[in-house]
Amino acid sequence: MPRLVVATGNPGKLAELQAYLNDTGWELALKPPELEIEETGTTFLENARLKASQIALATGEWAIADDSGLAVTALNGAPGLYSARYGATDAERINRVLTGLAGQGDRSAHFICALVVVRPDGTVAAEAEGICPGEITEEPRGQNGFGYDPIFGVPELGCTYAEMSAAQKHDLSHRGRAIALLKPQLAALG
Ligand code: IMP
Repeated sequence: MPRLVVATGNPGKLAELQAYLNDTGWELALKPPELEIEETGTTFLENARLKASQIALATGEWAIADDSGLAVTALNGAPGLYSARYGATDAERINRVLTGLAGQGDRSAHFICALVVVRPDGTVAAEAEGICPGEITEEPRGQNGFGYDPIFGVPELGCTYAEMSAAQKHDLSHRGRAIALLKPQLAALG
């Protein structure tokens, strides 16, 4: 089974993906640290395709990339593609969303995750998009997770991403849903 190079320098992300994709038989590897890719796409899927194909072409190996973010309806889809850059720290980013929604009746939002696998020649072999609908809470709640987790409430469970266990979050999160859609495609490629 060939290796899949992950378009991340973050060993945590690699370990998480490896755990989810273990039973597909693919072995995951970190991208070479000197490879930096600009995210110039206009959608999450475009950005994931861009990252994966550049890594594949540079390494000559199969590659996988993800791109994800939070879209808030009353903020016209912001922070969207700028989720990671919406402020200098998680606290600032969260505060900016809460401030932007002050006095707003509509607190609906969704998280999106796009995952793309490309062949060594840079062509797309598999892709999936997972969406988790929810609503922005009035204030942060919970200690788990990262990023916007404390203000993303999932009505189905009556709690925020940050109040869920890792297993619960995996089952219903945007990333979990994208992985579930990608897995059968990936297994078929092997
Ligand atoms: P990426 O690493 O370029 O995909 O950026 C994703 C950004 O979206 C992160 O920096 C977070 O701010 C946000 N994000 C994506 N997924 C999650 C999640 O599961 N919980 C909280 N924030 C997330």
